[in-house]
Amino acid sequence: MIDTERPATADNTAYLTPLRSAQIPLRGTSDTLNRRKNKRCIILIERTMEIEAISRGEINSIKILWENLNDHHLSKSMYFKDHFSKFTFEKRMEALVKRDRFIAYVAQDSCDSVGYCIATVDGSIGEIDSLFVKGAYRGQGVGEKLVTLALKWLEEQDCETIRVSIAEGNEQVLDFYRKFGFAERLIVMQKTHNIAVAGNGGKACCP
Ligand SMILES: CC(C)(COP(=O)(O)OP(=O)(O)OC[C@H]1O[C@@H](n2cnc3c(N)ncnc32)[C@H](O)[C@@H]1OP(=O)(O)O)[C@@H](O)C(=O)NCCC(=O)NCCS
Repeated sequence: MIDTERPATADNTAYLTPLRSAQIPLRGTSDTLNRRKNKRCIILIERTMEIEAISRGEINSIKILWENLNDHHLSKSMYFKDHFSKFTFEKRMEALVKRDRFIAYVAQDSCDSVGYCIATVDGSIGEIDSLFVKGAYRGQGVGEKLVTLALKWLEEQDCETIRVSIAEGNEQVLDFYRKFGFAERLIVMQKTHNIAVAGNGGKACCP
């Protein structure tokens, strides 16, 4: 359990906020049948979900979700399928854990990881690096909560700029990020089909 803010160390211990986990109410309701009087009534149940901050050393716990995100990008991409078909969790994390500071928030429903958001800081630049919510859990406010926590953490790191990169083919998510105040700053075009987009000083693109 990591409960205090501390700098990253050689053993890849993350630099975490004091907030280790939070409970969030989910949007939406569940229907239940009340059969006692043979009457159907709808009971509104507010479900909650745990969101936990994890360290670099625990990042393997989101490997399957990241692979789901990569599959999502592979299916959406028109020009860079080759990149996503060869991309691996290990390659992506190798690049991310080198950043100055790192945090990942993971949403859990009954101990099942259902979504995550990774954010990093390098110098004065903060970035939302990777975000995914399982299909069945979308539209209930999980993504919004994950990004809100990540942005709060990034703001606490005194970043001058906060970026997010959107993969080609996944442009429909632009509207999601606009809700948080992001706006398109640069459109990076790339001719090579088998390497990561080299914007942002050569750092790998989302995811
Ligand atoms: C993008 C994603 C994380 C959003 O998660 P979510 O839990 O469904 O989002 P929320 O329920 O918190 O939605 C928050 C708001 O954004 C809107 N929104 C959600 N996904 C959206 C999308 N793809 N496009 C436009 N708006 C979207 C919702 O309608 C909601 O708006 P409201 O507050 O006006 O009702 C999720 O759709 C996902 O995992 N997509 C596939 C992976 C992906 O594209 N990741 C981003 C990589 S950069």
